[in-house]
Amino acid sequence: MSSSAPAPQPASSASASMSASTATAPAENVVVLDDVVAGYLPGVNILNGANLTAAKGELIGIIGPNGAGKSTMLKAIFGQVKVRSGSVTLNGEDITGLRANKLVAKGVGFVPQTNNVFPSLTIAENLQMGAYQRPRGLRERVDFVTSIFPDLGKRLQQRAGSLSGGERQMVAMGRALMMDPHVLLLDEPSAGLSPSRQDEAFLRVSEINKAGVTTIMVEQNARRCLQICDRGYVLDQGRDAYTGTGRDLLNDPNVIGLYLGTLGA
Ligand SMILES: Nc1ncnc2c1ncn2[C@@H]1O[C@H](COP(=O)(O)OP(=O)(O)OP(=O)(O)O)[C@@H](O)[C@H]1O
Ligand SMILES: [Mg+2]
Repeated sequence: MSSSAPAPQPASSASASMSASTATAPAENVVVLDDVVAGYLPGVNILNGANLTAAKGELIGIIGPNGAGKSTMLKAIFGQVKVRSGSVTLNGEDITGLRANKLVAKGVGFVPQTNNVFPSLTIAENLQMGAYQRPRGLRERVDFVTSIFPDLGKRLQQRAGSLSGGERQMVAMGRALMMDPHVLLLDEPSAGLSPSRQDEAFLRVSEINKAGVTTIMVEQNARRCLQICDRGYVLDQGRDAYTGTGRDLLNDPNVIGLYLGTLGA
């Protein structure tokens, strides 16, 4: 019940129990980041001890200022950035640093912030590329994807390069869904969209999540993200500064004062 939900936690007070709980990660925790330190350049850490848990079926939102390390957090899960210490687990299995193709085979889908479609290929070909590791059942997966994104189904032969930014984002999400992932990592699905298109993107994300896909979404549009997510994390300077239910974070004076005033209204 939401009335008994815990108040948002500054991460520092939660970190000790987070480490302890990770040692015996409950089965329902699908994704766990425990004290992750990661970076691209030698001697420069972008994540400075970041923690996150996503339970089965949860929709998790990650918000925070530009450059806070939000995209890097998704990349740390998907083996796209060097994790220097700490761990990432998937269903209790250590996947720290595992390569993307192995993660895809384990049911993790990733939609990056940019360059996420093949512009010279058609929508249909982009979707097929998503299923290259899973050639069987292609038709059924295309049917599922086009049931979520009906507009794509009507334009399967159109080149992705001729689509608007929002439509490309839908192709990218559709492509990730072709592998029937049980975990989906989304980096700014509403970026660059008009307000009505943003509404549509968030609706689609909710639909995908309700279909049973544990979803971790980074969003610049902080308020909308917190409105639809089960739990959220505010990332600041590579650390999870605050966490709580979306509603708790939306109403937390510190989060409002520090982050929601300047992030997407
Ligand atoms: N490939 C890279 N090589 C070196 N530094 C990088 C690389 N990618 C990101 N960074 C740096 O890491 C920091 C965090 O970047 P990241 O993209 O994770 O932030 P973000 O929170 O997603 O920001 P935004 O809201 O702008 O998308 C930034 O200082 C950025 O310059
Ligand atoms: Mg980013």
